[in-house]
Amino acid sequence: MSTQIIGKPQDRVDGRLKVTGRAMYSGDRQEENLTYGYLLTSKVAKGLIQAMDTSVAERSPGVAAVYTPFNPLKLYHGLEPPEGATSGETLPPLQDQKILNYGQIIGLVVAESYEQARDAAALVRTQYQAEEPVASWEQGIEHTFTPESVDREKATVKILAEGVDSIDDAIRGSPLVVDVTYTEPIYHHNPMEPHATTAVWHGDRLTIYDATQGVISHRLNVASVLGIDEDMVRVLCPFVGGAFGCKGSMWMFSPLTAAAARALNRPVKTILTREQMFTLVGHRPALIQHLTLGANPDGTLQAVKHDVRSTVSFAKIFVEAAAHRTSRLLYKSPNIQVSHTLVRWNVGGPTFMRAPGCAPGMFSLECAMDELAVRCGIDPVELRTKNDAEVYPGRNVPWSCKNLVECYQLGAEKFGWSKRNSIPGAVQEGDWLVGMGMASALYPAHRNRASAKVRFQADGTAQVSSATQDLGTGTWTVLAMVGADSLGLPIAKIHTELGDSALPSAPTSGGSASVASVTPAIQKAAESAKKKLIQLAIRDRKSPFFGAKIEDVSYRNGELTGAGKSADFGSVLSGIGRSAVEAVEMAAAGEEEEKYAFHSFGAQFCQVKVNRWTGEVRLQRMTSVMDIGTVVNLKTARSQIMGGIVFGIGMALMEGTILEEKTGRYANANFADYLIATNADVPYIDIHFINKPDTIFNPLGARGIGEIGITGTPAAIANAVYNATGRRVREFPILPEKLLPIGANQPMISMSERS
Ligand code: MOS
Repeated sequence: MSTQIIGKPQDRVDGRLKVTGRAMYSGDRQEENLTYGYLLTSKVAKGLIQAMDTSVAERSPGVAAVYTPFNPLKLYHGLEPPEGATSGETLPPLQDQKILNYGQIIGLVVAESYEQARDAAALVRTQYQAEEPVASWEQGIEHTFTPESVDREKATVKILAEGVDSIDDAIRGSPLVVDVTYTEPIYHHNPMEPHATTAVWHGDRLTIYDATQGVISHRLNVASVLGIDEDMVRVLCPFVGGAFGCKGSMWMFSPLTAAAARALNRPVKTILTREQMFTLVGHRPALIQHLTLGANPDGTLQAVKHDVRSTVSFAKIFVEAAAHRTSRLLYKSPNIQVSHTLVRWNVGGPTFMRAPGCAPGMFSLECAMDELAVRCGIDPVELRTKNDAEVYPGRNVPWSCKNLVECYQLGAEKFGWSKRNSIPGAVQEGDWLVGMGMASALYPAHRNRASAKVRFQADGTAQVSSATQDLGTGTWTVLAMVGADSLGLPIAKIHTELGDSALPSAPTSGGSASVASVTPAIQKAAESAKKKLIQLAIRDRKSPFFGAKIEDVSYRNGELTGAGKSADFGSVLSGIGRSAVEAVEMAAAGEEEEKYAFHSFGAQFCQVKVNRWTGEVRLQRMTSVMDIGTVVNLKTARSQIMGGIVFGIGMALMEGTILEEKTGRYANANFADYLIATNADVPYIDIHFINKPDTIFNPLGARGIGEIGITGTPAAIANAVYNATGRRVREFPILPEKLLPIGANQPMISMSERS
């Protein structure tokens, strides 16, 4: 799909506000009589709080209150989040003395200034009865269990060919087998903007400014934890400074702040510190993934077995569906089995993080495929092309619009894959070993029920409104573009409203679903608004179209035409003395859900150089080809894929949260020690889109784009590192020390891998 607007590179409509510092984020909120909350957090990972001495803190300058389990604010259990809401945690803080993880909320200090609250917090003395935490895979063994379901399927999904009794039989019957285990540490989202809540009560009505991916979900959750009616709560979030999943759920500091504001009868603002961002708002769990691939000598897959173990807290279940969202469906194989078990640790709750399931699952699966390509002596692109799935395994339905093979071909061509030397270590530039690698990219296409309002205004502008969010992804701009396209108006004439729970309901901006969900509602509302405009124009005496038949009047590019006349909607509305005419519509996926599978795909290629002496890995270039349906805004779409790739670089080479086994404390919960990819780590990134509209999925043909960019990146890098050095690092991230020594002390290519 391509029009004068859709598919073009459009500057962000909110860009000027952001670069001039006028975009107000939740933590920027200023209120009259404002106080500041500072969270007290646990210094042990397991046990009980025996006593807290808050007397000195309470007497410190500016302190309004110190809330603890011994002086709590009443909060209700959010065990079952209300329908349509996602909650990161279910146990409200301060309701008992139990400690389940290091950094858990054990109090809130409220003072006249942030500094006063922080300094007073340092004066609170807490006595714990500490126990040894569960903070390693070994300790977690006795806390291992199987989840009831994984990604809406059973914890173990078996697809076996007729006559095959078990996946292990299928593996034993395969001429070539790759049997590998990969491990991953905990990863943290680390958005630039920390979580923040400003809570303001007007009587029994609460307005909450919160950094959230879901204003509607947040409203439901906060109301439920405060024990009040959701109609009494309004959540506002016009801008989000990055989220990546950690703002996709409600976390308890937010209703706690609201409860303090209610008790004090003053607005309270709580902003998390960077260290608190590591323990209070989720993370990607640690994983152990065991993959066994059985294939014929020509590389045709005969068996795919993928077992996942992921970590979870003691408070709530979260499943990082690393196999169910990848090996379950990506390649054609007569025998597929995926399974999942969970291991409890004394950590805060894990949650969605950019491409949940897919990012870690593809890291392992796509490295294993590379190992298989080596084992078979087949080019990695050819191996993947050969095993491309035309139908969704086990369901036997086709994809609505799948162009993965085209991604491989175009990517290989743009990247210059044919120049790759398949012998590891063969290409050298001085002290650097050069390698090329590739991987597939994959992410499900989600679409949820959403509503939107379109409003023609007498001043000749139009308004597009929906309770969706812009996480920095470009939703402000895309909604304006789709509104402009639907109404045939220039983008400058469209005013967008979002990030307000009082607007027509829209889903949480997660699962890369916002554009796919909200734009159909805008298109429907635009059509309804046009009809209403025409009805108004033929019924009102002061309108030039008065008395015309409805079928004789039409709307095009802002103009009404019919009965030999034409007039723009602004003059029609002002002529009849109306300020506006509007329509609200809801849109949801239909029965196509049964007949098709919906996914986005891609192919990612990269070139690295690895220093022979230091093991340092430098990315040299990346090429990504994405099959994500219609590209709505070429500029923000590129930026989303690029952002995903930058995330993937960190995941592959530098990120990882270190949990101290003895204390259950994160050793690197700060930006000095938790390394993320920065400009110097990011090479030129070449991005291409297939741009074939998926109109079975939605009228615009657009699938999500926020997450897929990360999915193939880590494995493409790991495979390039192998091609450069002959070294397989299966314990991620690929840190320099894991690659050393390179060269002299060992054969560059092990014989088993060459055979
Ligand atoms: Mo995304 S991790 O689904 O917010």
